[in-house]
Amino acid sequence: MMKPSTLICSVAFGIFASSTGWTVENGDLPTAVTTKREMVVTANPLATAAGAHILKIGGTATDAMIAVQTVLGLVEPQSSGLGGGAFIVYYDAAANRTITVDAREKAPAAATEDRFVGAGGFTNAWQSGLSVGVPGVPRMLEYMHDRYGHLPWQRLFVPAKVLAEKGYPLTERTSDQVAGLLAANPSCAEGERLFFRDPTAFEYFADPADCTARPAGTLMRNLAYAKTLKALARWGADAFYQGPIAGEIAQAVQGDLNIPGDMTTEDLHNYQVVVREPVCKTYQGYQVCGMGPPSSGGLAVGQILGLMEHRPDLMGDDPLAVETVHLFTQAGRLAFADRNQYVGDSDFVPVPVAGMLDDSYLAERAALITEVDMGTAEPGDPPGAVGPGAPDNTVKLSGTTHVAIVDRYGNALSMTTTIESSFGNGVMVRGFLLNNELTDFAFSPTDNQGNLVANRVEPNKRPRSSMSPTIVFDADGRVALVTGSPGGSRIIGYTAQSIVNVIDFGLDPQEAINVPHYMNRNGRTDIEEPIPGVTLEYDAQALADALISKGHSVGIIEQNSGLSMIQVKEHEHPGPGNRKHRGKDKRSQRLLIGGADYRRDGTVGGR
Ligand code: DON
Repeated sequence: MMKPSTLICSVAFGIFASSTGWTVENGDLPTAVTTKREMVVTANPLATAAGAHILKIGGTATDAMIAVQTVLGLVEPQSSGLGGGAFIVYYDAAANRTITVDAREKAPAAATEDRFVGAGGFTNAWQSGLSVGVPGVPRMLEYMHDRYGHLPWQRLFVPAKVLAEKGYPLTERTSDQVAGLLAANPSCAEGERLFFRDPTAFEYFADPADCTARPAGTLMRNLAYAKTLKALARWGADAFYQGPIAGEIAQAVQGDLNIPGDMTTEDLHNYQVVVREPVCKTYQGYQVCGMGPPSSGGLAVGQILGLMEHRPDLMGDDPLAVETVHLFTQAGRLAFADRNQYVGDSDFVPVPVAGMLDDSYLAERAALITEVDMGTAEPGDPPGAVGPGAPDNTVKLSGTTHVAIVDRYGNALSMTTTIESSFGNGVMVRGFLLNNELTDFAFSPTDNQGNLVANRVEPNKRPRSSMSPTIVFDADGRVALVTGSPGGSRIIGYTAQSIVNVIDFGLDPQEAINVPHYMNRNGRTDIEEPIPGVTLEYDAQALADALISKGHSVGIIEQNSGLSMIQVKEHEHPGPGNRKHRGKDKRSQRLLIGGADYRRDGTVGGR
């Protein structure tokens, strides 16, 4: 039996019951983990262990995040790393302030709006130098540590460095993803291989003798990564953005074997993170705060919740009731119509942030929801919108991961971190993979009428994201929930649904994660197949039929989320002293309740 303070995947037998009384016979499902002091949830047990260790020795949420990110870049390399970007929503307890940190990758200064026109479609652009944005993660680690770290910077790199030198077991998920991409190659021969065209990445992830993925359990050493970590630990982020590492990144991009890119060492040298105000929306008495542009996450999650709140008449009694799914998916249609039309990097294009979350505007939009599917939603006209513009309706593939941390000091950190698609652009430099984030831009700068797309490529611009790191505050302004997920543009639905499951249906984070997802990104309604022992069993076909009778076109799909959630419950308890004085000396006690996504290798750690 594992100690509660270690990595946990506890399992319940029998009845699944929420605090609303909704019950489902569901066999063995993961149950929530509770701690009192601190908690970290990530998509990998080694990353969670590193974060939990840093918290245990007195580190802050930021300290733990640095250890977690550097380990994730090693052990879940397909999802995030030094070569990628991230968004953080951070609650600073001492200042009682919430900020967001934008460490999104940037287009090089030489980028032009027709970058992807004629690039041969998404896959060819993805596996090329054109897709690589200037990475933001190393600068973000330093920025956060300078302001919110307690432990010495160098200390935080030790877990990843030791694992990189001693080796870590390759996970089944990583091995399977390598196999999937290798199988998509027309030929495995050098020069003909598209996926893992870079010989360094190929030799690391595959056996060159027979072109197969290294099997799960293989002890993977990454000495180049250990060396990069040593340089960062010693010299700070400048070791990455200047000097030989920057030189090698630029060289790899410009010398890409498929299509050369244009990133320069100057682009790297100039990279800065941007601190932005959070985008917040009230929901059922809570304040839901997320990432604003260039992410569409905070706005779209806020819109979905705001639209739902305006239609309590259409809400169902449980998370899988057809009424709930219908309302959620209609709100999704409306939110995606606005997102696609209006959201881009607000340092370059006007985004009507306040207007999109304006309550009268959302009331007007919510009135469009009826008992039957509305079909394709048109964008609305939120206050402050500047037109005409054209939508970017591209749906992105699923390489991203979410980290939730609460420390003993009361700080909360919600970070979604990414290299975009699986294994980024497939090129490895100094032990880390380069991202393909720029494929998050619209491939065409205009629509057929010549109207400009807000999310078109421009020099130094950041591509629109769907990443939705979120912190929810209760009516007293206390942190109530830390949540977020990977999943491409599905992130928005996963995150919004996790909040509805907790706030509306009283589920704890693990129960909330165990519910299969549903969503509509202004196209087909997707519902997820259950996974025995991982998600709630339910009759997906019966739900699909009920939705079809409401006019939906429905797809039953495989699951692909990766939610990491922490709920914070504060309750007062009588302090010490005799009965006479009890109540006068009340103490507030905190309970942290964690849920991880066992669809991935999610784990909860802490004490
Ligand atoms: O920023 C974004 O929205 C995407 N680059 C995220 C990609 C993603 O989540 C892939 N996931 N599994």
